[in-house]
Amino acid sequence: MLLPRLDGPRLTLRPARVDDLEFFADLNTDAEVMAHVSGRAASRSDTVEEWTRRLGERSDRAAGLGYWVGSADGRAIGWWGLGRTESDPRAAELGFRLRREHWRKGFGAEGARMLLAHAFTDLAVTRVWAGTVTANIASRRTLEAVGLEQVDEPSLGVLTFEVTRSQWRERAQPR
Ligand SMILES: CC(C)(COP(=O)(O)OP(=O)(O)OC[C@H]1O[C@@H](n2cnc3c(N)ncnc32)[C@H](O)[C@@H]1OP(=O)(O)O)[C@@H](O)C(=O)NCCC(=O)NCCS
Repeated sequence: MLLPRLDGPRLTLRPARVDDLEFFADLNTDAEVMAHVSGRAASRSDTVEEWTRRLGERSDRAAGLGYWVGSADGRAIGWWGLGRTESDPRAAELGFRLRREHWRKGFGAEGARMLLAHAFTDLAVTRVWAGTVTANIASRRTLEAVGLEQVDEPSLGVLTFEVTRSQWRERAQPR
């Protein structure tokens, strides 16, 4: 299955490609963007390693899982993803990372809602989950805003959130 292009109220999500590496590397040079991801700006080789994994073992194109670059008004804003979960083929790991100048404008939640709607209506996904850290208030609030709830703290300061397809249908219909 080829990942589709998805159109939202303001955002267009299109499948990430190897030639987006410059954009990802540039995004990862901002230490604030990376503060709760790795704690520091990433080097180019860190980014190559990250995206080799994301476009390789973390994707499952046959199941429709992978990563998208989101743009509004023709400008790339960040990436959103439905990553593969090794232990559960019907689960997807929601992730997102946006350029700092686009924070707090509703884009993080908009892209996340688009991917939840895609996962639960177009794919065989029955559970979407995300991991973050206690200190990442922006990520926690965004996950909650789109209907995920905290389900676990697998280690001190590490939080797991999730929503099932039936919960999403009941409580978080796409806007
Ligand atoms: C997490 C991230 C994607 C959020 O994107 P965003 O576009 O700023 O989020 P939105 O504007 O859509 O806001 C979504 C909700 O979170 C809240 N929120 C966002 N940032 C917040 C912050 N710093 N403090 C408190 N609330 C915040 C918003 O108020 C909104 O809540 P509401 O719908 O209840 O009003 C963005 O901060 C980011 O890219 N961070 C760096 C990378 C990262 O940490 N990714 C997650 C790794 S787990």
